[in-house]
Amino acid sequence: MKQIKIDGGKTLSGTIKISGAKNSAVALIPASILSDDIVKIDNIPNISDIDALDEILKYLGAKVSVEDGIMIIDPKGIKNKDIPKEVSSKLRASYYFMSALLGKYKHVEMYFPGGCKIGARPIDQTLKGFEALGAKVEEKDNKFIITASELRGGHVYLDMPSVGATINTMLVAVKAKGVTIIENAAKEPEIVNVATLLNNMGAKITGAGTSEIRISGVEYLKGCFTEVIPDRIETGTYIIAGALLGDNLKIENIIPEHVESLTLKLKEMGVKMEIGKSSIVINRCKNPKHVNLKTLGYPGFPTDLQQPITTLLTQCQGTSVLEETIYENRFQNVQYLNKMGANIKINGRKITVKGPTVLKGAKVVATDLRAGACLILAALIAQGKTTIKDIEHVLRGYENIIEKLTNVGAKITLEEI
Ligand code: EPU
Repeated sequence: MKQIKIDGGKTLSGTIKISGAKNSAVALIPASILSDDIVKIDNIPNISDIDALDEILKYLGAKVSVEDGIMIIDPKGIKNKDIPKEVSSKLRASYYFMSALLGKYKHVEMYFPGGCKIGARPIDQTLKGFEALGAKVEEKDNKFIITASELRGGHVYLDMPSVGATINTMLVAVKAKGVTIIENAAKEPEIVNVATLLNNMGAKITGAGTSEIRISGVEYLKGCFTEVIPDRIETGTYIIAGALLGDNLKIENIIPEHVESLTLKLKEMGVKMEIGKSSIVINRCKNPKHVNLKTLGYPGFPTDLQQPITTLLTQCQGTSVLEETIYENRFQNVQYLNKMGANIKINGRKITVKGPTVLKGAKVVATDLRAGACLILAALIAQGKTTIKDIEHVLRGYENIIEKLTNVGAKITLEEI
């Protein structure tokens, strides 16, 4: 078990370079096995979720190596084996192997995926996509046995714009016979990144990034090269750190458009930023104004930044109301922020944050990835020392977070307990 200790109140200045997006990379890696030849992916982040996928690739028989930061996946030796429960339960993205194996072999056996405990996170829309393309789904004791005698294009209308269901349906449709249309598709940049990889392999996908995606199936997918986009949630987390403690803190290697819902909110609060082509320079905002926020699918305000921005809301003048519309259990950070001195009340899917409040160092727990990021931000501004337990959750999704923050002036130590 790992924990970190943070000595709060240090100004952050210098440059933070953003890594490849976790939620893109975790889909690109399983997608690569659909290829009949070598796939090279640049800018893969060094995080534990990627290690888990690397383990699955090797278990299935792929050859994997990393050269100059580029992951090289040779899928030619892959066999369609059942993925054990201990492996699939490590992360949510394990279920991208479910669709990639189904698309490649028309048969897959796998358990319910893992992931942060932030809601029930059913996979009904993914299964609906599989069925629309001709697959038969059986479930027993959380194990899914999915088979198709033939995969053929179909018309899928998603009940909600689910990122996972959109990607999973695309992964099955690329090799299915005929045309698939996904309506009410998710529009996240990670979906465009996956479609780009597949199109580079020779797939025929149009409309990724809009709510209607059209896929014409092909028989063969060739090797290719692609790059993971910068992580917009990591970007947003450090931008918030800059609004709290920055002295000309530069966040670079970013796509500013991907974090516009955040930067526009920060402007509403009165935060000053210089937004460049691929970087942002940000300074501490002394008296931010309160704002109201609601999480939505892209291009709306991302649920994955909801917990990190709550720390900033505790420093705003007045009462902010934040509504979480995506997950039913994503306020586990609130009890710990309150323990540190915040004044936050939970009311169903909404929280009200009264500010500004002085935060004080305390012993807290990272219950999930983004709750952990929220508490790191809180600890960075708190008076005194904060200890954050279960920090493994954070290491799953933020590359070198301790080094990145230390390099710009934070005082953090990692301990094994
Ligand atoms: N939903 C269903 N049925 C489904 C699919 C989704 O009811 O079949 C519901 C979910 O329960 C949730 C909502 O729809 O309430 C959105 O789920 P979605 O499928 O879009 O999320 P996901 O694909 O499971 C990805 C990211 C999450 C991120 C969401 C939303 C990965 C591996 N995970 O999850 O990332 O919150 O999209 O943007 O890409 C994180 O990085 O901290 C994280 C949780």
